[in-house]
Amino acid sequence: MLITNIKELVGVLEDGSLMKAGAAMSEVNRIPNAFLYIRGKKIADYGTMDSPEYQQYLQKERKVVDAKGGIVMPTFCDSHTHIVYANSREMEFVDKIKGLSYEEIAKRGGGILNSAKATAAATEDELYESAMTRLNEMMRMGTGAVEIKSGYGLSTESELKMLRVIKRLKENSPLTIKANFLGAHGIPMEYRGRQEEYVDLVINEMMPLVATENLADFVDVFCDKGFFTVEDTERVLMAGIKYGMRPKIHANEMAVSGGVQVGVKYGAISVDHLEQMGMEEIEALKGSETMPTVLPGCAFFLNLPLSPVRDMINAGLPVAMASDFNPGTSPSGNMQFIMSAACIRYKMTPEEAFNATTLNTAYAMDVSHELGSITKGKLANVIITKPMNGLEFMPYYYGANKVEKVIINGKLTVEN
Ligand code: NIG
Ligand code: FE
Repeated sequence: MLITNIKELVGVLEDGSLMKAGAAMSEVNRIPNAFLYIRGKKIADYGTMDSPEYQQYLQKERKVVDAKGGIVMPTFCDSHTHIVYANSREMEFVDKIKGLSYEEIAKRGGGILNSAKATAAATEDELYESAMTRLNEMMRMGTGAVEIKSGYGLSTESELKMLRVIKRLKENSPLTIKANFLGAHGIPMEYRGRQEEYVDLVINEMMPLVATENLADFVDVFCDKGFFTVEDTERVLMAGIKYGMRPKIHANEMAVSGGVQVGVKYGAISVDHLEQMGMEEIEALKGSETMPTVLPGCAFFLNLPLSPVRDMINAGLPVAMASDFNPGTSPSGNMQFIMSAACIRYKMTPEEAFNATTLNTAYAMDVSHELGSITKGKLANVIITKPMNGLEFMPYYYGANKVEKVIINGKLTVEN
């Protein structure tokens, strides 16, 4: 496939880097007036429209897609979602408007436990259908890879049900999908006051079954005030690692929880949320292989303090940004909005926001060797936008879907 008339080809990367940190987060290579050539599933070549290569490809290629002055960029990677769920939670949304906090709702048995009840009652097919609808909606907004967590099960049966749904999504969606076992997401009512016993259940009963069916790439824990402690987290991560699941955790959303440090200690591929960060947390991340991941949709929806993104970048750290798509704290998988929030609320430049939502999120879900940039040999997962002058328009024109076409694995999959 030959894509022509590209106003700007954004995110060209040939230095082999798997993520961008610190000052390098501002680097985005762009080719104006460009073409992109795809062979099979992969990116084969690119260049300017006035190059001889372009003429050669034009002569031999029958499949020509006119970008009509849109930009072409890699699809977004969404490295943190909870899109397998049974019920929406707009009544809690109203409670929050009226003054209840997320923690208060959770304490009353709402929140994650509310979703767990509905998930237990839903069939695997129902969960699969609704999650597939969400995946397709995300794809139409330009997302090409998604990490999906369990964690609304909180019983062996329901956690396995969720993970089997994720497995079916992997098999049937053209998107690149990674599965994350989040059995330690909430403490079921009957375990209140003895949550170590729930952690025992996660480790001794759920995890061996998850591993036997090979249902999870990652292991996750909600390490935060009112949820799991650092000790609980260590136990779960150690067990997960034994089964080949790399840690990727929820940390420091409600409080400075020690979650960042425990994530780094166990080689987490990412630590996510990070609304509550001090200098110690930033120090702990320096020199680690752990991607700090901020979830602007959650902070927006819950009116949480903003993660100190500028301090992290100034300290030389990378930053990734994902949607956290879930029914309780971020009911949206719109990564274009995440880019806008990155710029407007966190004072990131469009280039930094771009790297945070493509290459760095690809790293955070362990796919940056094959996704997240315009690189020869990487999978051809690209967005063709509606006509625009350049990358800056993407976060600027917030709220609208600026995606015209989406190509997944070299195939034209979405035409909006
Ligand atoms: O990432 N923080 C923990 N878990 C989810 C929210 C889950 C829910 O409220 O349903 C999150 O925000
Ligand atoms: Fe989350």
